[in-house]
Amino acid sequence: MAGQRILNSKLQTPLEQRQRQQRFMEPPPAGTVASLIDFGSNDTLSISSSRVLTRAFLAQLDAHPNFIVGSTSTRIFEGTSQYLDDIERDLARFHNAPAGLFFNSGFDANVALWSTIPRPDDVVLHDEYIHASIHDGMRRGRAKTKMFAHNDLEDFRRCLEDIKHNHGLKEGKNVVFVAVESFYSMDGDVVPIREMLEISKQVLPQGNVVYSIDEAHSNGVIGPNGSGLVCHYGLEKEIGLRLHTCGKGLGSTGAVVLASETVRMAMINYSRNVVFSTAPSFVTVAAVRAGYELAASEEGEKRRQRLQQNTRYFQHRVAEHPKWAEVTAKGIIRIPASEDWGSRSFETPIFALITPPGQANELAEHIHAAGYWLDSVHYPIVPKDLSRVRLTVHADNTEEQIEGVVKTFMDWATRQLGQERRQTKL
Ligand SMILES: Cc1ncc(COP(=O)(O)O)c(C=O)c1O
Repeated sequence: MAGQRILNSKLQTPLEQRQRQQRFMEPPPAGTVASLIDFGSNDTLSISSSRVLTRAFLAQLDAHPNFIVGSTSTRIFEGTSQYLDDIERDLARFHNAPAGLFFNSGFDANVALWSTIPRPDDVVLHDEYIHASIHDGMRRGRAKTKMFAHNDLEDFRRCLEDIKHNHGLKEGKNVVFVAVESFYSMDGDVVPIREMLEISKQVLPQGNVVYSIDEAHSNGVIGPNGSGLVCHYGLEKEIGLRLHTCGKGLGSTGAVVLASETVRMAMINYSRNVVFSTAPSFVTVAAVRAGYELAASEEGEKRRQRLQQNTRYFQHRVAEHPKWAEVTAKGIIRIPASEDWGSRSFETPIFALITPPGQANELAEHIHAAGYWLDSVHYPIVPKDLSRVRLTVHADNTEEQIEGVVKTFMDWATRQLGQERRQTKL
């Protein structure tokens, strides 16, 4: 009893501190989210919330009436069913990759990849904004790591030069892994991958670089049949490692690492979360197969187009708002990725509405009160001084909903402008 009391009080203190700092995470009641218009979830193609995926999933169950629910064991023993084998082969083909290894989640997949594949004399050079799961994997791994400033090509070049001269990379015996994300999950900007490839060719002409792109937020959303950013640019041969998660655009859960057969076998042999964990179940894989079939169908193509249209419409409503220039110039709401709007053949549906310190929760509550759901995000998920409201556009959002949510946050921002003016006069 005393042990429980001591434990609770030890845990309570840091939780109270989080509350005071306005970064306490309390999952909203499920009913609240469901009753509001979705500008928060990662279901960007709206295939999950619209129940289109439910129907495709039930069709998978019908097509396999004798299915066994559980995988019954780890991959290295009885857990590799024919159904799991088939999806790995099919996903590798779909994304034009040599081989695939399927995991229960993207988090698991990244930990498996980064804890086992880079060897002790290798170096992992990563963008400062890569996902927490890559950090956790690297921490467990034995390669050195180095970070470059987010999407900063000059800093990327400087870091590569430094690694080349100070980590024995010149001889070409060891590898620099470059870890980036296709669409950054909290900022919605895009990795300048073609420019990075060019730089690494110049700095390391021996080619001892392995690129890894985490395609969590581009999977299903762009590229032929939704196959992602690497396929969109036709860079399959240049990117050695890819991670495609299924819990965002594809509406369910799980993830596939796309790599060479050697990397695949190394992960099966050495990744603790492969060896010591129950293999993905039939139910997980059936939902994934249903999601991929939808992504590759006419319905999937229509949804991708609608998502692009909606995203452009959102950008248009923001950029054309009479107060936007002043609001953003004064830092009341900034959307850093807005500099890139319209510069590519596609747009990303994630928007970071960065507020002055201490105001992200107030903005989120104002938007909730108007009937729209989205999330405020704080440190440690984003850097300390960059709290924000994260807004995601979906294929099934209507123009009216988009107009409504933009009006709502711009009303808040305009009110803040008024307050600022009054304070300046005083
Ligand atoms: C870039 C990135 N990688 C990996 C993950 C983890 O994927 P999952 O949700 O399937 O565990 C996420 C999810 O937040 C992500 O945004």
